[in-house]
Amino acid sequence: QSLRTVNWVLEETNYTRLCSSKKILTVNGLFPGPTLHVHKGDRLIVNIQNQGAYNVTIHWHGVKQPRNPWSDGPEYITQCPIKPGANFSYEIIFSTEEGTLWWHAHSDWSRATVHGPIIVYPANGTTYPYSKPSEEFPIVLASWFKGDVMELIQSALESGAEPNQSDAFTINGQPGDLYNCSKPGTFKIMVDYGKTYLLRIINAIMNEEMFFKVAEHNLTVVGMDGAYIKPIYTDYIMITPGQTMDVLITANQSPSEYYMAARAYAGLQYDNTTTTAIVQYSGNYTAPSTPAFPILPNYTDIDAVTNFTRQMKALNSKEHPVDVPQTVDTKLYITLSVNTLPCVNSSCDGPNGDRLAASLNNMSFVTPEVDVLQAYYSQLKGFYTTDFPSQPPYFFNFTADDVSDDYLTPNNVTKVKVLEFNSTVEIVFQTTNVMKAAENHPMHLHGYSFYFVGFGFGNFNNETDPTGYNLVDPPEVNTVGVPTNGWAAIRFRADNPGVWFMHCHLERHSSWGMDTVLIVKNGTTTEASMQDPPPYLNPC
Ligand code: C2O
Ligand code: CU
Repeated sequence: QSLRTVNWVLEETNYTRLCSSKKILTVNGLFPGPTLHVHKGDRLIVNIQNQGAYNVTIHWHGVKQPRNPWSDGPEYITQCPIKPGANFSYEIIFSTEEGTLWWHAHSDWSRATVHGPIIVYPANGTTYPYSKPSEEFPIVLASWFKGDVMELIQSALESGAEPNQSDAFTINGQPGDLYNCSKPGTFKIMVDYGKTYLLRIINAIMNEEMFFKVAEHNLTVVGMDGAYIKPIYTDYIMITPGQTMDVLITANQSPSEYYMAARAYAGLQYDNTTTTAIVQYSGNYTAPSTPAFPILPNYTDIDAVTNFTRQMKALNSKEHPVDVPQTVDTKLYITLSVNTLPCVNSSCDGPNGDRLAASLNNMSFVTPEVDVLQAYYSQLKGFYTTDFPSQPPYFFNFTADDVSDDYLTPNNVTKVKVLEFNSTVEIVFQTTNVMKAAENHPMHLHGYSFYFVGFGFGNFNNETDPTGYNLVDPPEVNTVGVPTNGWAAIRFRADNPGVWFMHCHLERHSSWGMDTVLIVKNGTTTEASMQDPPPYLNPC
């Protein structure tokens, strides 16, 4: 175990993509941002100096941060923003994670450009549960907007309408060969025939789930969200925003150049562009004028998603055992909806002059003016209430084609859920077709990995559906894609005391209020309680 210190400067940096230049917020001038390399069990201090023009915070996505919500990052949930000109130090505590994770800004939409990989190697003296790859490549999928991202979301929230879609997706910062303007920069990996490589794939995209594929090569998925899984042999993956996957690829085709490509899986409004990068074999051969192109699943191919998801199982080996709660103390049943709220100004550009909103159990989350963690720790009244409902306030046919308008208007509130220390928790997420906005929602929980024990279509049936749960070797993840017109069930033990954000990782849904907070109480000993706050906290 080692303790290292890293210094990061947040700054506006000029970047040109798709033939147009703009200033973007970066860490140390880099897009994507720097990669953090650690070993399992390490501790890291990251000193942030904000020289940019906006309030920022940074989140370490998938790092459980045992007892240390103070450094988790979401703005107005565990800290107040690092204002322009201000500093903050994060203490990142790695515990059981092993594999690929990532970090990203967690205030407004700054994560569009402020993000990067976290690579957690096995603890010293241990190795991967698969043969060591010849080389490793982080593959960061992201969204590129021609306009200013912060203005874009600001104006969308004011007008109440859908925010603009991105103009391209990128692989390691590059849109790829389908854009003449950006062709010279296309990302490339060099491979030797016969060798095996590890792709550490991160979906940092703002609003779309993605299919990813490499032409004429098979993929073996060996890890997800910083935990090992039983190998999935496939020729494509589906990866939601927030998820990470460790994927092996063997260079066993005729030496040449091949495209890797990614495009959206989405039912509604989405960016329908394709981003590419190149796999280039070493050696002497005549390069094709255009590399072979992969045929990706269709944008709406729900079967491709389901078939892939069904194969996810924890490795569950002697070195990497699972510990799935077999009984449940607290059950939550949570609907995910897109709704509308009355306009704050006179008229909005959303449906019927209202503004678009989103909710969990019909509660559209409002971030408080003092962060929830500070309010909880210092027992400040009036910033949140603890009555987040354990089930939907109305039951109806959630996934019907025609969902009544009655459920369009959610409550605009700051409601959190309090959990007993060490209790076992089950959450069933239920998507709804309110606003005819049926869609896959990648639900993410901070401070935890959870077991993804089951999913299905239609309305969750409390009698019959749990009998199909996988309580033997479910994958341990931090983000779950709740299927379009369906449900997903997760279980975990509430053994990490603190204040933990839970939200949809589609950025527009989170901005509209598809969020809540789980407060996990302290246990009876110091070791079972939150750490003391760091000496410096940013004032709100
Ligand atoms: Cu990847 Cu709350 O975030
Ligand atoms: Cu969502």
